[in-house]
Amino acid sequence: MGELDQHRAPIVEALQEFKRHRVVPFDVPGHKRGRGNPALVSLLGQQCVSLDVNSMKPLDNLCNPVSVIAEAEELCAEAFGADHAFFIVNGTTMAVQTMVLSVCHAGDKIILPRNVHKSVINALILCGAVPVYINPRIHPVIGVALDMETAELERCIEENPDAVAVLVNNPTYYGICSDLRSIVRIAHAHGMKVLCDEAHGTHLYFGENLPVCGMTAGVDMAAVSMHKSGGSLTQSSILLTGKSMDYRYVRQIINLTQTTSASYLLLASLDLSRRNLALHGKDSFARVVDMAEYARGEINRIGGYYAYGRELIGPDVFDYDVTKLCIYTKSMGLTGIEVYDILRDEYDIQAEFGDIGNLMAYLSIGDRIQDIERLVGALEDIKRRYPGDAGSTPYVDAVEATVAESPQFAFYTEKESIPIREAAGRVSGEFVMCYPPGIPILAPGELVTKDIIDHILYAREKGCSLQGSADPTVENLRVLTRTSAGKGKEHRENE
Ligand SMILES: Cc1ncc(COP(=O)(O)O)c(C=O)c1O
Repeated sequence: MGELDQHRAPIVEALQEFKRHRVVPFDVPGHKRGRGNPALVSLLGQQCVSLDVNSMKPLDNLCNPVSVIAEAEELCAEAFGADHAFFIVNGTTMAVQTMVLSVCHAGDKIILPRNVHKSVINALILCGAVPVYINPRIHPVIGVALDMETAELERCIEENPDAVAVLVNNPTYYGICSDLRSIVRIAHAHGMKVLCDEAHGTHLYFGENLPVCGMTAGVDMAAVSMHKSGGSLTQSSILLTGKSMDYRYVRQIINLTQTTSASYLLLASLDLSRRNLALHGKDSFARVVDMAEYARGEINRIGGYYAYGRELIGPDVFDYDVTKLCIYTKSMGLTGIEVYDILRDEYDIQAEFGDIGNLMAYLSIGDRIQDIERLVGALEDIKRRYPGDAGSTPYVDAVEATVAESPQFAFYTEKESIPIREAAGRVSGEFVMCYPPGIPILAPGELVTKDIIDHILYAREKGCSLQGSADPTVENLRVLTRTSAGKGKEHRENE
């Protein structure tokens, strides 16, 4: 451990001290420790609502921390091996967007894999940067995007030496990790910053024998979802920066969009989670790894399903995060989303997500072996009750994106709404994605192709929750009526 006392939790200590003083509230929130909203108290409990307070002198202020929040962030930076840590209460979405907005200006190029979360592309809409995608290869069986190849990155940098940054997922939702150390070396050699989306990687900072975490690999910034594998409350997150970043400037970027009424429930949960991970993370994640490996073995024993793991490591997968329990289901003749729905509707089991080929069961520090047994039992039962045939579920290949316009131009320019089946050859003005995982099938500025339309319609038919388009049924799509070069209407596919 470092020099600081990781047993401390400065925000929590300040809240406890505040409670002892029985302060009379003539400030917001207006429920006044719950007195004005008894139903809220009966739902959440007096203890919870009495800590739902706003910034005040002894509790510091998230917009410009100088006391207890600053101390808590320092402890967090030490625990994660970062130069600076920022507590975030607007989700990892905001941490991701801060990374992009901190290094990109309008018109700047940023290199990234296409399988990014929508928050990344939304950041490009906000700042006007232009994506240069490295389309990842797709696993021929499980249909999942593979790692960012270093040779591809080098080629991409050669073609785009003016790019300012490289963004990489570590790991992907499905557990795939790229060779982060080499990516950092290559990008830095060309004066580019490396931004790391670690929404699914908090545990990499504490567990043993797991893929390397962003800060150890030398990335410049990392967005880390404490509320996912770290155990803090939903919506709380952290942003880590390395020495290369001016943290005062990053704070200014955060304050462009961060709330001025940060929730102390979320801040306290970040403080406690950091303490818990710093003191017990190694053992906790060793247990998660054991549970995941056990579950994988049991699920693969059922037959039909394929719960993949470290055997994926090879030329296309640099490393694999074994805490992820992802199960390929199409080999049984059921899509991931179908198994997801059956688990929820008939077995009261809530999985993280199901997509066309895969089901994901999220494992973390709160899991118990008896729950794993229940999942395995349910999957076994489903296999017996829904005898399928792999051939009956057509394979839908992952889509390739062609960027025709910048996301910002496409988002803000004039559009018309047309039936999606007629949209091939046009440029999309909106997103279409299954959520989760929230990786756009189509993003603003991308060329619509027949493959993409088929993919969207197939996902819809199978019951995926589609988001992003103005028309919630995705019968219609909003497409551009002009190009940035001022031309009218259609970008035909082979033009
Ligand atoms: C890869 C990735 N990045 C960023 C986010 C955004 O996180 P949040 O939901 O906390 O805003 C997610 C959410 O699932 C994600 O999967």
